[in-house]
Amino acid sequence: MRTIAVVNQKGGCGKTTSVVNLAGCLAEENHRVLVVDMDPQAHATIGLGIDPEALDENLYEVLADPPPHAASLDEVTVPAGDCLDVAPSGVILSALEQKLASEGATGRTERLGIALKSLSKPYDFVLIDCPPNVGILTFNALRAATEVIVPLETSYFAMQGVSRLLETVGLLEDRIGHELRIRLLPTLFDGRTRFAKRALIEIRETYKDLVFDTVIRQNVRLREAAQRGQPISKLDRRAYGFVDYMSLALELLFDNQALDEEKEVAPEFELEESVSGGEKGVVLTYRSPVARSVQLAGDFNGWVPDKNVDSRQAPDGTWEKVIQLGPGVYQYRYFVDGEWKPDPSNPRRVEGPAGGVNSVLIIS
Ligand SMILES: Nc1ncnc2c1ncn2[C@@H]1O[C@H](COP(=O)(O)OP(=O)(O)O)[C@@H](O)[C@H]1O
Ligand SMILES: [Mg+2]
Repeated sequence: MRTIAVVNQKGGCGKTTSVVNLAGCLAEENHRVLVVDMDPQAHATIGLGIDPEALDENLYEVLADPPPHAASLDEVTVPAGDCLDVAPSGVILSALEQKLASEGATGRTERLGIALKSLSKPYDFVLIDCPPNVGILTFNALRAATEVIVPLETSYFAMQGVSRLLETVGLLEDRIGHELRIRLLPTLFDGRTRFAKRALIEIRETYKDLVFDTVIRQNVRLREAAQRGQPISKLDRRAYGFVDYMSLALELLFDNQALDEEKEVAPEFELEESVSGGEKGVVLTYRSPVARSVQLAGDFNGWVPDKNVDSRQAPDGTWEKVIQLGPGVYQYRYFVDGEWKPDPSNPRRVEGPAGGVNSVLIIS
């Protein structure tokens, strides 16, 4: 189980949007996800289609009292989709901050961590949405987490306060005795403005490897999805918002693999100039002098080998497959002499929904 806290004391930098849509994309890939909503504003709960007012219990019951008097997370968790559950928030959580602070209660920053340890349902990911301050609720999230994502709006003031936040997390690491892998996620990027481009360069120059490759672009569909109480994965798989959060999901999933294999994580494909109606000609190359037949299938052609695919074959055994694709995240495999194979030249791989290994193509 990977527990990731999404933290930044600044409001409006994309914490909740990132939690909800990253959760949606991970669940879409069949990973079991629990969203823990630690913000009394309950935007993540609402963004996943659940009305906090309609619930009898929420995280308050889990965190207000020390165990064994507290409710368990299992009791308050509600389903929000296939592979996706949420431990909901509610306005009463704002009272918790004060209650715990004034009580000086023992173990008051460990309660979420303890609650997560006693979950009976197995989750692959726990994503914790934090309030816009670094109080007791956020400390609970940080103590429970093994990884931290700090969304940064790519604007003029993006980096203000980041160094202090990193310092706080560093201090906490010493105290809690486990490491926190912390990474920065550029959000709300508007490529049309010089401001945004400069902010992104500055973020990358200052924080280097701590910054995700993925950049979340501004996309109005993300706002619409929030208003409808759905992750973007349920609303529009062609939207930039989906492509970007799926790219983030895959970057997280590749983490371990990339570290193990120390490979460059960049798919090997070319884009052709022929652009029609927002679609691009994507050229995938398979090299095999011995193969007699090489076909391409993926979610873009309903997994029917070579459907809507132009094939070219060079005498040296290089097979070229050309498909027209709009922006999106696609999974595919080759069908080589009657056998399914992932793309050997593409290190981006995921476990396919039907088992086996699929290669992944991201067209942005
Ligand atoms: N990439 C994006 N494109 C467009 N709107 C966004 C994007 N990310 C966030 N927003 C919108 O910006 C506002 C603040 O985002 P939110 O995720 O709630 O921030 P936080 O949780 O950090 O306060 C929300 O209205 C949200 O819908
Ligand atoms: Mg929020």
